[in-house]
Amino acid sequence: MILRQTVPTTADPIADFAVDVREGLLRTGQKELPSKYLYDEVGSALFEVISALPEYGLTRADERLLRENAVEIVARVKSPVVVAELGSGSGKKTRYLLEALDRRQQTRYCPIEISHSALTMCARELGDIEHISIVGFESEYLDGLLEVADNRRPGEHLLVLFLGSTIGNFDRPADVKFLRAVRRILQPGDFLLLGTDLVKPTPPMLDAYDDCLGVTAAFNLNLLARINRDLGGNFALAQFKHEARYNPETRSIEMHMRSERFQNVTIPRAGLTVTFREGETIWTECSHKYSRPELLHLAMSASFRCKQQWVDDEWPFAETLLIAQ
Ligand SMILES: C[S@@+](CC[C@H](N)C(=O)[O-])C[C@H]1O[C@@H](n2cnc3c(N)ncnc32)[C@H](O)[C@@H]1O
Repeated sequence: MILRQTVPTTADPIADFAVDVREGLLRTGQKELPSKYLYDEVGSALFEVISALPEYGLTRADERLLRENAVEIVARVKSPVVVAELGSGSGKKTRYLLEALDRRQQTRYCPIEISHSALTMCARELGDIEHISIVGFESEYLDGLLEVADNRRPGEHLLVLFLGSTIGNFDRPADVKFLRAVRRILQPGDFLLLGTDLVKPTPPMLDAYDDCLGVTAAFNLNLLARINRDLGGNFALAQFKHEARYNPETRSIEMHMRSERFQNVTIPRAGLTVTFREGETIWTECSHKYSRPELLHLAMSASFRCKQQWVDDEWPFAETLLIAQ
């Protein structure tokens, strides 16, 4: 893999982390931490385990759809094509698409990841596909996509992958705003393949974010451990409990960490001492669930048209191929 780094907003990612932690924990009302910080080396490894858990049906549904329909999906996309994947993680499921493309042409695959370890896993996972060359971008989604688009060769189409229902981590209407920003980077005729979890009965949705082994709880609590490691914080992890809630109004699962008692936490590198009331929570992630009409509306609002949609019967999940208008 060739590894590219886009110009970071500041030269010091720890300083950015400190600023975001300070802002999120000083917020009046609900304390929050951005979900992107869940993915350091430990977090990315834990996410891989979550993907293998029986409760986390999303990954298997996404994988089934890609396995069963890769040839058809790839047939809808014009050649030559460069593939960019937003938040690839280990890229395991992407193999089906790349192998289908591999039979057709030499292709560049560009995973875009903030997690260095996820990018390394991805290169290891997909590095053996003969006609696929990997150019990884260690960056935020849009910075990486801009680089890929700027470096496209004449006549090349872009196929952007956004799998695993990661779009659900944006608040509504931040999801539309994000898709519009993606669309502005693309040219008419480029493609976006969007994997999204669909609304289903509450118990399986909740279990997916609160498994009986406690892996998702560890994934969530690792964010406090990361603050301790990187910013010198003194969070007592045993004094916070993972909590998954379904919010029917926004149709989203929210992950929180609940303080078990009144406590003060000091985070020297963020210049912060923060007080938690007993029962107060830090909100770390939302995972919105979509309906099929809502997805079509979302696509249209961002100037995409739906080419085709595939839905898994076992675990309601949609793979939607969109074309930029
Ligand atoms: C929910 S995981 C999905 C991984 C993989 N696409 C899948 O379907 O299994 C989200 C991935 O996006 C990455 N990520 C999160 N926020 C990001 C950001 N702002 N820019 C780039 N990558 C990001 C994380 O490191 C993580 O690997």
